[in-house]
This record gives sequence, C-alpha cells and structure tokens, in this order.
Amino acid sequence: MPIQRVRSKWAKTDVLLADPLLKEYVPKTRIFKRATVEQMLQQYEMIYVKPIYGTFGNGVIRIEKNSGAARPYFFQSGEHKYSFATFDAMYLKLLQIKKKKAYLCQQGIHLLEYSGRRYDLRVMVQKNPRLHWEATGMIGRLGHPRKIITNYHAGGTPMPVTKLLKDSLSPQHTESYQSKLRDLGVNIAKTMEVKFPRIKEIGIDVAVDRNLKPWILEVNTLPDPFLFKKLPDRTIFRRIYSYAIAYGRFRKRKR
Ligand SMILES: Nc1ncnc2c1ncn2[C@@H]1O[C@H](COP(=O)(O)OP(=O)(O)O)[C@@H](O)[C@H]1O
Ligand SMILES: [Mg+2]
Repeated sequence: MPIQRVRSKWAKTDVLLADPLLKEYVPKTRIFKRATVEQMLQQYEMIYVKPIYGTFGNGVIRIEKNSGAARPYFFQSGEHKYSFATFDAMYLKLLQIKKKKAYLCQQGIHLLEYSGRRYDLRVMVQKNPRLHWEATGMIGRLGHPRKIITNYHAGGTPMPVTKLLKDSLSPQHTESYQSKLRDLGVNIAKTMEVKFPRIKEIGIDVAVDRNLKPWILEVNTLPDPFLFKKLPDRTIFRRIYSYAIAYGRFRKRKR
C-alpha cells in the first residue's frame, strides 16, 4: 500500500479540531467567505487566508485591519502590498487575487522574530523501524525579510532552533520547550493516523507567539526531508533519511 498524502488543509485541520487536547493549539480556522473574513478581521485584526490545496506558501495572503488608519484595510500577497479605505474595496481585490481557488481563513499568529525576520518551526515526526511514531527533527525557518511566509521555497532561511530561541529562552528552557514540541508532534501524528491510516511521516509548521505559545499552522503529509540537510548536525538528516527508506518513501515507482 502506498504512503498516504493528504492535500486538503481543511481535512487535516478538521481532524485536529476534533481532538480536545490538540484543538487548543490550532488557530481559529474557517472556510473562506465574505462574512467570515469580515468577522475574523474584526475579532483578530490580523488573519491569514490560504488555498486549501496550496504548497510552498503559494497564494498565501496576510490581511490586517488597523481601525485608526485612514486606509484601515491592508493585505500582502508575495511582495505586493495593498491598502483600502473600505472593507468592500479590499474584498473585491482579494477575490481578484485569489481567483476561483478554495481558501481558508485563519487567525493570524504574530510570530517571534530573529534579526527582524519572522520565523516558524518545522517539526518532523516519522514512523520508526519499530513502527512507533518518533519526532526525528526540528528546524527553524526564517522568513524572507519582505515576505509574509517562511517557506524555504519562497526564500526562507533554515536555522537551528536553539539559535532562534536563544533570544527568548535560556538554554535549559529551550531544551524542555523542544521536548514539549516533540511530544505535541507525536500526539498529532497519532491523532492523524486514526483518520489517515497510511501516513508514515508528517512535518508540522509550528508558529510560536510572543507568549511562547506554540500554534499548529499546518500539518504536511510527505514533507521535504532534505530541509534537514541544512542543519550542522548531520546525524539528524541521516536518521530521517534512513527511516524514510525503511517505510519506502523513496522506492522507485513502476511505470
Ligand atoms: N495563521 C497564520 N499566522 C501566521 N503566519 C502564518 C499563518 N498561516 C500561515 N502562515 C505563514 O505562511 C506560511 C505558509 O503557510 P502554510 O499554511 O504552511 O501553507 P503552505 O502549505 O503553502 O506552506 C507559514 O509557514 C507561515 O510562515
Ligand atoms: Mg507550510
């Protein structure tokens, strides 16, 4: 049986929301529609809207509402920025940009920053050769300075997590924080597996906010293992790769 890949961000988020323990780590997420954009902007002041079937940060838009400003509505997509006097004007442009694709609206998380750039964390969790879920790697992704996403394929810079968290946590707390994230990752994998029984690996995009609360932005099935080649500690990638070989991720497909 081939390894399962689940593309729908909505289907994956739904599984997490159904779990009372994991639910609290998921930013409020709704299907994109006009009333939802308006209501969520009112409530959170900053939201992300993203394609349900998106990858590499493509099509991701960050929307802000600054009630005091002359042009209170603002959004950014790629490096393009737009501001508007009214919600209606903004929504019109938003529809133009997203085209006909299905989108989600998500509560925006204010990511921690490192040298003026936002970052999030990628947590890799895999089925090990003893068939237990194991958190096998964690890496930070510093966003490109002019972008609203941290994806490597959009100019993000991979960095060791310890280096990024140094500004916010003592070395001892950094270790226990990472251990907490590893446990969270394994719990996510176990929960996802109930609904998607043929997954073998997940890569979780974790945002850390200014109160150091971790938030699950998305769960990737079949994440990129080669990102972990960027870590100075080579043993991390080697283990990730060997586990992936063991469950057949790189087996040649018959044509
Ligand atoms: N709710 C959010 N709050 C803050 N940043 C977000 C949010 N959702 C996405 N992002 C940023 O956009 C990036 C891409 O979003 P993601 O949901 O991971 O889609 P993709 O599948 O395209 O990677 C994330 O890695 C993060 O940097
Ligand atoms: Mg992602």
